[in-house]
Amino acid sequence: MYSEKVMDHFEHPRNVGEIENASGVGTVGNAKCGDIMRIYLDIDEQGIIRDVKFKTFGCGAAVATSSMATELVKGKSIQEAMEVTNKAVMEALDGLPPVKVHCSLLAEEAIHAALWDYAQKHGITIEGLEKPKSDIHEGEEEAEEEY
Ligand code: FES
Repeated sequence: MYSEKVMDHFEHPRNVGEIENASGVGTVGNAKCGDIMRIYLDIDEQGIIRDVKFKTFGCGAAVATSSMATELVKGKSIQEAMEVTNKAVMEALDGLPPVKVHCSLLAEEAIHAALWDYAQKHGITIEGLEKPKSDIHEGEEEAEEEY
């Protein structure tokens, strides 16, 4: 049911962990399955993603998609990272079963949420980036707004 790549990233996830003083942190969750994904980005002055780490409390596909998503954005510019959609993540993993598509969506949302956080901190606008819908960043007042 799962491709070899999905199994590989599930069993040996890349870039697990956190980044202290990250440039941007995004946490998203899926209310239905209860899975949570957090992505940390380290972005330099040129807007290049120097490092990226993730923590995922979720299913195997969520682990595999976050692992692949971090691999896809590492070393990329912010605009290139914006192109890492859930489709791109799924393709890089040689597909996911239909019931697991939402897991890849969580990975895309987590990257967007981390980029949003970075943009907020730096007072910049990232083209095509919208305020994350399910950002559940701890300790942030705006949390209720969305519900
Ligand atoms: Fe919800 Fe995978 S089952 S993220």
